[in-house]
Amino acid sequence: MPTSSLQAVMVVVALEEEEDEAPAAEAGKEDALVTKNMVPGEAVYNEKRIAVQKEDGTKVEYRVWNPFRSKLAAAILGGVDNIWITPGAKVLYLGAASGTTVSHVSDVVGPTGVVYAVEFSHRSGRDLVNMAKKRTNVIPIIEDARHPAKYRMLVGMVHVIFSDVAQPDQARILALNASYFLKAGGHFVISIKANCIDSTVPAEAVFQSEVKKLQQEQFKPFEQVTLEPFERDHACVVGGYRMPKKQKA
Ligand SMILES: C[S@@+](CC[C@H](N)C(=O)[O-])C[C@H]1O[C@@H](n2cnc3c(N)ncnc32)[C@H](O)[C@@H]1O
Repeated sequence: MPTSSLQAVMVVVALEEEEDEAPAAEAGKEDALVTKNMVPGEAVYNEKRIAVQKEDGTKVEYRVWNPFRSKLAAAILGGVDNIWITPGAKVLYLGAASGTTVSHVSDVVGPTGVVYAVEFSHRSGRDLVNMAKKRTNVIPIIEDARHPAKYRMLVGMVHVIFSDVAQPDQARILALNASYFLKAGGHFVISIKANCIDSTVPAEAVFQSEVKKLQQEQFKPFEQVTLEPFERDHACVVGGYRMPKKQKA
């Protein structure tokens, strides 16, 4: 179960919504990872929505976050302690695809946060742009993440970079973007797909060598989780960037 700061930004609710929201049989009694919907009444990718009545009688709507469709959700359910994405945070998201996970990050950062979502495929980018029309905290950027100079006018300094580009040079792409946009003392979250980096060695060896590359680029990995059983041979690494040196006592 997610701990500490994760509980502040997202909840895991028992699916016990009212019957008019979803049939009880379908909902079951299992827990689900959810985010509070920034645009109540609207789904983004046909995901299930759950209305929960608060004590004062008002309703809050949540969207179920499927770990089979989102590596960030898989990392949370995989036990990562902190994703550093909190209400009000500014997040640079590399490899946004059609915006499925971006929409949950948008829920988490809420109206006072921003998600700069970079995707180079125009086809996926169309869905991303459409999703952002209703979510004012998402800035879609249809560009190649290898060339951050091209979008530097659109992106401010950020607290967190989430990277899911699934490219062999993804550590370099993250480092380049961090050098432009990530605050010193900020955080990164990277999803690593072993076989897109080197399919000839065991996944664990790929993860180790990626972590080494990150360390050489002023990243300090704090934790690493496997994304099994949601994704095969994937890991998620979370850590800090240009972290201040600890003062000697
Ligand atoms: C694994 S998918 C991302 C899935 C997405 N993060 C989600 O959870 O819904 C990787 C995405 O990165 C994009 N991508 C790959 N290389 C890129 C680059 N250099 N610049 C921008 N986007 C890139 C691909 O087009 C693809 O949509």
